[in-house]
Amino acid sequence: MRYPLIPVIVALAVVPAGFAYVHWTKGGSGAGLYSRHWSPDPGQGYWDPDNFYQSPNGVQGVFQGQQCIQCHEGITPGIVSDWRASRHARVQEPVDCAACHGDDHQHLRLPTPHVCGGCHEKQYGEFRDEARYGFPSHVLAMQRAVDAKHFVDKPKAEVQACIQCHSVATKCDSCHSRHRFDPAEARRPEACITCHSGPPHPDDETYFASAHGRLYLAEGNGWDWSKPLRKGNYKAPGCAYCHMEGGRHQVAHKSIWRFGLREINPHTSQNQVLRARWVALCSDCHEAVQAAQWLSDMDRERERAWDKLYAAEDLLKDLRADDGLYPAAGERPPYPMDWLDRLWPRERIGFFEGQASAFYNVSAIERDYFEMWYFDNLGAYKAAAHGDSAGVEAGHARMNGMLEKIGAQARKLRELTNAERKATGKRSAPGDLWLSGAYTEHNREHN
Ligand code: HEC
Ligand code: HEC
Ligand code: HEC
Ligand code: HEC
Ligand code: HEC
Ligand code: HEC
Ligand code: HEC
Ligand code: HEC
Repeated sequence: MRYPLIPVIVALAVVPAGFAYVHWTKGGSGAGLYSRHWSPDPGQGYWDPDNFYQSPNGVQGVFQGQQCIQCHEGITPGIVSDWRASRHARVQEPVDCAACHGDDHQHLRLPTPHVCGGCHEKQYGEFRDEARYGFPSHVLAMQRAVDAKHFVDKPKAEVQACIQCHSVATKCDSCHSRHRFDPAEARRPEACITCHSGPPHPDDETYFASAHGRLYLAEGNGWDWSKPLRKGNYKAPGCAYCHMEGGRHQVAHKSIWRFGLREINPHTSQNQVLRARWVALCSDCHEAVQAAQWLSDMDRERERAWDKLYAAEDLLKDLRADDGLYPAAGERPPYPMDWLDRLWPRERIGFFEGQASAFYNVSAIERDYFEMWYFDNLGAYKAAAHGDSAGVEAGHARMNGMLEKIGAQARKLRELTNAERKATGKRSAPGDLWLSGAYTEHNREHN
């Protein structure tokens, strides 16, 4: 009778201990789960002001809006003229410099979403509310970056860019450039592509290769971008037209495949709801039946892609079962604070084993698999999603090539392992060749 209570008692002790531990990990000089393992660069305050901004103290005094403008007209004339041209300067009670930055020059602030939200409740509310869709979403983006294991494990110089893109969560001037804050700018695709580009998320490349992107490139400069994103106002859609329809400050509310990281069933009732949202949007300009067909084509492309990924995964898992991966997990540096990795070193293969973070301290064949999965596959997804047919072909051609390469490497590794076992009775270990070394030590000491 007493024994069933034991797990309950253990749970009662473990849960608070778990919370206390997470709380402790967040108490360091950095931010997020690994805050005790890194410290911020001085520049970080500009990307994540709430956590890191420190006001300069060269200028002393408390100033009124007009004084700010007078002095800054000389120091930063571009900022003042942009502000003058903005709606903020032209409303009845101008939103002056101090409204966003505060009036005490030794305690300036950089306005975070919360500050803008004081006057723009609707956009701020929508922005915040996106958290309920989980990752990925703009509001959670900073958390995602600093909580990624490779963010803390790699040299700062190599990961400084992460927070610049992921700062879409910590300030409102990602799509609205300061100090103009002109919605016409935010509606154009250029507002998104500083961040939505590059091999794991080639949104810009695929969009500009699509029929929509081509039309934008040919005629977009002649369109009236001061009009809101609504039916009838634009001939072809830009990014925001499709992802922020009606000016809604959320991008995750229609996402079916999300980033494309995991295989999903696109036909669950929940996904039917999302699909209906997409079809309604496309129906601003196309027949609903046709739009639904395009989305099914995308699903079919995904099914094909996952078949290939699973084929590669099987090859790697078989090789792992035969101890053929070299160096093996226990022979390479574990991620910081990854206790499981230390106690039970295991090559993580596939999404559910945590492959998402494992892409640089791995063996060559695992790296190939990662590139197939993260670059070729995700590229093909974005091409299918955005209507870039050549991009779909190219992505699948690369995946086919990778699958073949991984197969050939696996055969070779298996042959070598078997030959070695036959000759010496065991597989040779690389010693601490990978466990120590300039790169690893430098990171541990200097992050
Ligand atoms: C007498 C001139 C003067 C006045 C008045 C003045 N500033 Fe500045 N401001 C400067 C100078 C100089 C800098 C460069 C940084 C420094 O030396 O502190 C600066 C920097 C800034 C920065 C950038 C801080 C950073 O970290 O990059 C902001 C924001 C700013 N001022 C806002 C204001 C606001 C708001 C007011 C009015 C409340 C104001 N300034 C009034 C001279 C002035
Ligand atoms: C609507 C809000 C808003 C108003 C009004 C505003 N700013 Fe800013 N300002 C910002 C934002 C947002 C940033 C970027 C903060 C960051 O990097 O995190 C910024 C940055 C700055 C900087 C840092 C330099 C830079 O661009 O990197 C200076 C200087 C500055 N503002 C001066 C001014 C002055 C002077 C005025 C008045 C003419 C003014 N600001 C009015 C929102 C505002
Ligand atoms: C003190 C209040 C206040 C703050 C703080 C403020 N705004 Fe505004 N904002 C306004 C007002 C008022 C308008 C004009 C609204 C209108 O025309 O209906 C406006 C208009 C805008 C517009 C539309 C401009 C246009 O040309 O139509 C944008 C975009 C905007 N703000 C963004 C921001 C961002 C981003 C921040 C934070 C960096 C911010 N605002 C901070 C009051 C504020
Ligand atoms: C400053 C960088 C930045 C800008 C500008 C930006 N984004 Fe993003 N966006 C991100 C990041 C980072 C993520 C991933 C967030 C995460 O990891 O949770 C993201 C995620 C997304 C997603 C994925 C949502 C999902 O559920 O899968 C969509 C869609 C999106 N953004 C659309 C846009 C559009 C449209 C624009 C322009 C109007 C834009 N973004 C501008 C950085 C940016
Ligand atoms: C060029 C801008 C950019 C840079 C630099 C960048 N990211 Fe991202 N990141 C994005 C975008 C955009 C997405 C979402 C793409 C989508 O939904 O298609 C994303 C997605 C992610 C995701 C997966 C999102 C999720 O919630 O599942 C993680 C984790 C992530 N980034 C971490 C990082 C880390 C760590 C770095 C630095 C090594 C980094 N990012 C650098 C723009 C960027
Ligand atoms: C991912 C890009 C993106 C981000 C981030 C973003 N905006 Fe916007 N914003 C837009 C677009 C696009 C429009 C134009 C919407 C339309 O046409 O209705 C817009 C319009 C606005 C407007 C004008 C609305 C109107 O009807 O005139 C305000 C105010 C505004 N944004 C405030 C904010 C605030 C506050 C934040 C931060 C919480 C923010 N924005 C972050 C893309 C963005
Ligand atoms: C014609 C409408 C359309 C345009 C224009 C468009 N997209 Fe998409 N986008 C889609 C569709 C449809 C998907 C697949 C959605 C899904 O899986 O639910 C998608 C997927 C995405 C995703 C993955 C997250 C998600 O929502 O599934 C990101 C990020 C993204 N697009 C960003 C962009 C950017 C940035 C641009 C501009 C360079 C852009 N898109 C232009 C329709 C569009
Ligand atoms: C604002 C209007 C608009 C919206 C919204 C829109 N499209 Fe289009 N779309 C166009 C135009 C215009 C063309 C080019 C037609 C041509 O070349 O004659 C086009 C072309 C296409 C094409 C190329 C094939 C063809 O018929 O030329 C595809 C595929 C497509 N759209 C899919 C979509 C999907 C899927 C959505 C919703 C996620 C969507 N579109 C939303 C206006 C739109």
